[in-house]
Amino acid sequence: MKYGVLGTGQVGQELSNKLVALGNEVCMGSRSQDSKEAKTWLERAGEKGKIGTFADAARFGEIIVNCTQGAHSLEALRLVAKKELNGKILIDVANPLDSSRGMPPVLSICNADSLGESIQREFPEAKVVKTLNTVNCRVMTDPGRVPGDHDMFICGNDDTAKKTVTALLREFGWKSIVDLGDITNARATEQLMPIWIRLWGKLGTADFNFRIVSDA
Ligand SMILES: NC(=O)c1ccc[n+]([C@@H]2O[C@H](COP(=O)([O-])OP(=O)(O)OC[C@H]3O[C@@H](n4cnc5c(N)ncnc54)[C@H](OP(=O)(O)O)[C@@H]3O)[C@@H](O)[C@H]2O)c1
Repeated sequence: MKYGVLGTGQVGQELSNKLVALGNEVCMGSRSQDSKEAKTWLERAGEKGKIGTFADAARFGEIIVNCTQGAHSLEALRLVAKKELNGKILIDVANPLDSSRGMPPVLSICNADSLGESIQREFPEAKVVKTLNTVNCRVMTDPGRVPGDHDMFICGNDDTAKKTVTALLREFGWKSIVDLGDITNARATEQLMPIWIRLWGKLGTADFNFRIVSDA
């Protein structure tokens, strides 16, 4: 499969490495053609890796992954022609964190809206699937870093797209995947960020996750 990974940060690098390791081709996208971070990644990625602009990566990918800074994800995606996203799965792992007023960051979109929904509204022909945003990037691709049973959330409007992404999550090693429903549920997973950030400070490690316990 060909993936267009939008984002050159820790998450873009971690997911790109995993996708290549699983035998996929990846084009990592950035605002510029010659991002230093993307070039460094390419040196290690080998022949299955490519780099380019966000538009190049979206054109290349059969599946797109949004790993851009959440408060600027819409700006990043607006650099991509809508037709490059039409009909494609767009996995959104971003959180709309705003650190401009200090730490800990607040959510720039919240309550009755979410980044996932905003992306879906702006790109109605894309199949937005929100997932992986509730764990650290190392845990995204290696859930075994957290001991015991723990859960990954997924939501989106298109059931077939969610099935495809669920199969990918299983390849990453996720065992328990909780489908919350349509993309409005991105409100819930993005709004886990305030507690996630505080737990990170409290626990002193990013290797933790949420576990849902019920009698259902
Ligand atoms: N770090 C984690 O473990 C983790 C876990 C869960 C979710 N997330 C979420 O995943 C996303 C990526 O996180 P990250 O830590 O890898 O990197 P990040 O620093 O949040 O984002 C880096 C990417 O955002 C792009 N970007 C920054 N400002 C932009 C702007 N004004 N317009 C367009 N694009 C812009 C950068 O483009 P250039 O390449 O051009 O510089 C770069 O590709 C974030 O939304 C974050 O909340 C992170």
